[in-house]
Amino acid sequence: MTQALLSPTIVPVALGERSYEVRIGAGLIDQAGTILAAQLTRKDVIIVTDANVAPLYLPRFEQALKTSGIRSQAIVLPPGEGTKDFAHLEQLTSALLNKGVERGTTLIALGGGVIGDLAGFTAAITLRGLDYVQVPTTLLAQVDSSVGGKTAIDTPHGKNLVGAFHQPRLVLADIAALATLPLRQVRAGYGEVVKYGLINDLSFFLWLEKHGAALVDGNEAHRLEAVATSVKAKADIVSRDERETGDRALLNLGHTFAHALEAETGFGEELLHGEAVAAGIVLAFALSARLKLCPDADVERVRSHFAAVGLPSGLKSLTHRAWKADALIAHMRHDKKVRDQKIRFILARGIGQAFVSDGVDPDVVAGLLADEIAA
Ligand code: NAD
Ligand code: GLY
Repeated sequence: MTQALLSPTIVPVALGERSYEVRIGAGLIDQAGTILAAQLTRKDVIIVTDANVAPLYLPRFEQALKTSGIRSQAIVLPPGEGTKDFAHLEQLTSALLNKGVERGTTLIALGGGVIGDLAGFTAAITLRGLDYVQVPTTLLAQVDSSVGGKTAIDTPHGKNLVGAFHQPRLVLADIAALATLPLRQVRAGYGEVVKYGLINDLSFFLWLEKHGAALVDGNEAHRLEAVATSVKAKADIVSRDERETGDRALLNLGHTFAHALEAETGFGEELLHGEAVAAGIVLAFALSARLKLCPDADVERVRSHFAAVGLPSGLKSLTHRAWKADALIAHMRHDKKVRDQKIRFILARGIGQAFVSDGVDPDVVAGLLADEIAA
């Protein structure tokens, strides 16, 4: 890999007056002060992070801000999906108000998708809207959740059901921060990376078939290349369809199945979101093949690629649990993506040829799930 590929990449997200840049590179946490100083309304920020990320990156991040004359205060929350709830939203908004936050104060989300979603939603509603910056430290957050302005918390009714579209002012994705991420979390993020190739970029999928395993193993140049390609793909879709009235739904490839698997496993450590997405993508391709839309060979190719990097490759590889087709279908009927009681799937005519479908017969889905469970 040449040095040129290791240079930072800047991806614009074009949304009129809400446009911003995603900067991707190694070492951006240490350069954050210089980059942010040029962008902030007031040199006064509040950093929101979690207790795993804080000891690894908070002191360096604070030092980088201080060197550029930016005042910062930090709020450290517990790690894990459980933090994305009403109780922590209340705790965080109260802490901000106690700290005397003003309209010109910027929130900075330093962490994975949990911190990004919660801090982003808090920024959306505190004082009717604060600026925020995403500094994603997981692969999943770098390629997906930090870009596009979806913010939310979970409720007892389900995941991400209370939230807002609120775009960040800037995203700083420091590839070097992925060095401390546990392998399981890297793999989970990789599930979302593959998604972009499968949606509409065959050449990216071919590249991932060649370099994906090395990327997961820690190759920084490949990580930079993959994050940049993924962010460009997401920025392109979000610029065309910020509020998910059309093409943005393609980003949900595999997610109808994934959310059902996560709902069944309690949205926790048993099955991480990216792991569920990998299994769900294989099921979406298998459903497409069953509907005679997509060649069987493409299903097997997708399945083999996920298996090769250690990700679930369908229900067949998640044998620790006795899945039930009717329970999974019941979860799908409660999905946010249901329209006029029809379950929405993202299907594919082949690798790189995904499309949205609201017209799939639930009996075909039940048949597919029953066959996968029995296999
Ligand atoms: P996460 O935020 O829980 O992070 C995973 C784990 O890694 C946590 O334990 C965290 O403390 C730890 N961690 C983070 N960075 C680290 C680092 N550099 N080194 C060591 N440990 C580190 O999970 P996630 O996978 O980043 O995000 C999942 C969340 O993202 C879910 O809540 C999901 O709903 C949300 N999401 C949102 C969007 C969106 O568009 N807003 C898209 C996809 C997912
Ligand atoms: N993660 C899906 C989206 O941002 O639309």
